[in-house]
Amino acid sequence: MRTSILAANWKMQKTVSEAVRFLEAFLPLVADADAVEVVIAPPFTALGRCGEELEGSNVKLASQNVNNEEKGAFTGEIAPAMLRDVGCSYAIVGHSERRALYGETDAFIAKKAGALLAAGLLPIVCVGELLDERESNRTFDVIGRQLAGSLAEVPVERASEVVIAYEPVWAIGTGKTATPEIAQEVHAFIREKLGEAFGSAGKDMRIQYGGSVKPENVYDLMAKPDIDGALVGGASLDPDSFAKIVQFEKQGVAQ
Ligand code: 13P
Repeated sequence: MRTSILAANWKMQKTVSEAVRFLEAFLPLVADADAVEVVIAPPFTALGRCGEELEGSNVKLASQNVNNEEKGAFTGEIAPAMLRDVGCSYAIVGHSERRALYGETDAFIAKKAGALLAAGLLPIVCVGELLDERESNRTFDVIGRQLAGSLAEVPVERASEVVIAYEPVWAIGTGKTATPEIAQEVHAFIREKLGEAFGSAGKDMRIQYGGSVKPENVYDLMAKPDIDGALVGGASLDPDSFAKIVQFEKQGVAQ
């Protein structure tokens, strides 16, 4: 049985005081959400303070990026152990914005995922196709290649700890969500590839969907058999909105 994982990716948004104000409002709203895992990924500058605020709560902390090196002359970079030190349990790697804007390759992402596991942190590895790749029927090729490359340094015995986030790039921040059917089709393909790579551990790996997830569409997405959670950008910035996403089952009942 895979526990659903709902994660907020705030991207380059919120100062420390804005982050604290969010948590003050959000934590009471989700205090009884014990059947799912809830994760918040603030910007680096707010991680330490958020880590303190989240101590003893049912919400976990993630970073939005990490470097694969342990320490040394890597100006501007953050090591896995530094993230653990401020209370992180997870780190997002390979987000499409990092792939597209900062040239991150599958090989670099693979090193980060391996370094995270070695340091006792759990990677959320993002994959997703561009609009022109979808329109030219290359979605499965692209996703297959990203998965094989980005997971190349995950040992089989650690695979079940890794979370995959399928985020079709054309659905990120555009208001265009993949339909639950489109998302499920790709999630099923990802599940098959995980099985080929990791055997039975592939069945235990959680696959989140990301791309314009909102309180209004989360229930139908989560109802699909291979969708095990959501990675949420815009709709995670507001405590009420993200709390509704965490409580996706109630959204279904209300509709
Ligand atoms: P939006 O929810 O704003 O589309 O962002 C999705 C995303 O990129 C989460 O990582």
